[in-house]
Amino acid sequence: MKTIIAANWKMHKNQEEAKNTAKQIKAELKTIPNNCEVIIFPPFTAITATKAGLGSPSQIDLGAQNFYPAPSGAFTGEISIDMIKDAGASWVLIGHSERRHIFGEEAPLIAKKTIFALEQNMHVLLCIGETEPEREQGALKKILQYQLETALTAVPEEAFKKLVIAYEPVWAIGTGKVASSEDIIEAHSMTRDILYSTLGKISKNIRILYGGSVKPENAASILLLDNVNGLLVGGASLEAKNFIPIIQAGISEY
Ligand code: PGA
Repeated sequence: MKTIIAANWKMHKNQEEAKNTAKQIKAELKTIPNNCEVIIFPPFTAITATKAGLGSPSQIDLGAQNFYPAPSGAFTGEISIDMIKDAGASWVLIGHSERRHIFGEEAPLIAKKTIFALEQNMHVLLCIGETEPEREQGALKKILQYQLETALTAVPEEAFKKLVIAYEPVWAIGTGKVASSEDIIEAHSMTRDILYSTLGKISKNIRILYGGSVKPENAASILLLDNVNGLLVGGASLEAKNFIPIIQAGISEY
């Protein structure tokens, strides 16, 4: 299984900043060994600039942080999968906690987006994770199970190879409060078990990334934990000088 190191730039960077960061990453990492995949999720307006900064050909893939699950139409403010492909991206992020909690995206929409994107042949990074009160109430397993089952039960089997899960405890995102090794091992093993009970054997090839306050200092040790197949990085992916050592941790994991 290839390790995935993914950058979520959220609502940061204009075109010039995106292009410069991409150029710096490319300059430092001329070739990425094939045990590791790197994906950058810039804001929509900076996808093409990021692509230009990476140059062509590039081993680094691009993704969009959101889209609307319809081919086209009267959906003011939304972006379609075809537009994302046209901009040069092949991945989409779905179910990020900021979409769930700030924008009120709920399970039925997340399920619709997951099926739609996979049908359109996109790679999907589906995020799941519990809030602090849910964890305190002992609801971790219930939440992960609900989020995974609602998003995945209608997905056709052949689409699973384009699916990656990111476990991101909401209380660890952007807070500097990284989950402990025990918390990560517990949640990733639950996720693995739920994937198996929902999807069967085929789920064994689905990678599970960890996200939430990943930094150059903790990346390597998190990558060594059981069932951690990569990292989704927010704040520490914005500057090349922080993101490069995280990619290097992914490359040297084996
Ligand atoms: P963070 O964000 O690394 O800044 O905590 C992670 C994410 O939101 O994907």
